[in-house]
Amino acid sequence: MDKLVARGGNILSGHIPVSGAKNAVLPIMTAAILAPGKYTISNVPNLRDTRTMSKLLEIIGGAVEMDSGTMQIDTSGVKNPEAPYELVKTMRASFYVLGPLLARFGEARVSLPGGCAWGPRPVDLHLKGMEALGAQVDLEGGYIIARADELVGTDFTLDISSVGATGNIMMAAVLAKGVTTIENAAREPEIGALGHFLNAMGADVRGIGSDVLEIHGVDELHSADYTVIPDRIEAGTYLVLGAMSGEDLEISPVNPKHMKAVIDKVRRAGADIRIEDNKLLVTRAAPIVADDITTAIFPGYPTDMQAQWMAFMATAEGSSVITEEIYHDRFTHVAELNRLGANISLEGNVAVVKGVDSLKGAPVMSTDIRASASLILAALIAEGRSDIQRIYHIDRGYEQIEKKLQGLGADIVRENA
Ligand code: EPZ
Repeated sequence: MDKLVARGGNILSGHIPVSGAKNAVLPIMTAAILAPGKYTISNVPNLRDTRTMSKLLEIIGGAVEMDSGTMQIDTSGVKNPEAPYELVKTMRASFYVLGPLLARFGEARVSLPGGCAWGPRPVDLHLKGMEALGAQVDLEGGYIIARADELVGTDFTLDISSVGATGNIMMAAVLAKGVTTIENAAREPEIGALGHFLNAMGADVRGIGSDVLEIHGVDELHSADYTVIPDRIEAGTYLVLGAMSGEDLEISPVNPKHMKAVIDKVRRAGADIRIEDNKLLVTRAAPIVADDITTAIFPGYPTDMQAQWMAFMATAEGSSVITEEIYHDRFTHVAELNRLGANISLEGNVAVVKGVDSLKGAPVMSTDIRASASLILAALIAEGRSDIQRIYHIDRGYEQIEKKLQGLGADIVRENA
């Protein structure tokens, strides 16, 4: 297994490129199941997760070619409506095939996703949505079996504004008879991107960007081409990096409107941030002023940026209270950051980071995509060497991260562990 070896202390500058959004392209890939045909998706990041989703589309009969950021998908051959456990257990987003398979074939067999590093991640809202559209949903041997002769539009309110459930229900509803409204829908930009892609395929999704989606069912859809939006979480990660160790570091392309909560918070902590069209320019905060965050659904501060904030606050002046409201146990990075000399205590879903003068390099272990990112950020300001192990986690969500960081002057290399 690979590891990253980093030596902290370099001031980073130059341009770091931002790839297409992982959490937009994954549901867009499954939406291609809805209409047999050829699709060209541009600005696709080459990640473990996009490769896993490509494998899944191939297992159900599709064909996927990827060539330097452009993905050609052909779903004419899709016929096997089953997403196997072996794949689904490696990537929860595989569950996104449920809605499209049900809408196109009237049946779907999708393995229940397992838990993940930070605990159970239920899919009950996805299933309630399918039932509300008229599907019969059963659980057999760890597989969700969903069947429906016809899906009929309905009014559905999400108890929690779940990103995944919003996406799955939207994809099931576009071919349903009549109108479906989803109240308390997720407003994340990646769901907006999915809605725009579905409309490019001939769907009629209204209210995109709001928390009430109105989907007018159509009789059929057609293939479409699409360019994926920039990854706001990758960009946010590099913004925090710049706030910790940057000098006029340029992050682009970005959509600043997708990053307002993070930009505001990082600026308030003392970083100098300039926004120029689709570019962010950031110089490190000196000193870093401690501030609290509470994670929330969009447009609030994203849970996927919680671990990165924790690394940022590790050497701040003062204490930062971090309240995780989306996943109460998303704190596997705390113990690893403390191994680097941070002073973080945890009580339920609240972490308190007491700023220390400096961090010291050490061997640390990645546990999930964003935890790994926080360890890299910390290692790049720590004195001495850090070995970050199990970086297959980071490869799920950050394209060529060590190459991009080397381009800024970071001392970081990939080695076989
Ligand atoms: C998406 O996961 C993202 N993944 C996650 O990013 C992100 O952390 C999460 O949204 C929250 O923003 C992808 O888009 C592929 P949710 P998802 O359904 O859809 C509860 C990353 O690092 N819930 O919005 O699985 C759930 O337990 C990944 O890129 C139910 O109770 O998240 C959680 O507390 C990690 N029942 C809350 O809702 C359900 O049926 C939000 O989860 C579904 C969710």
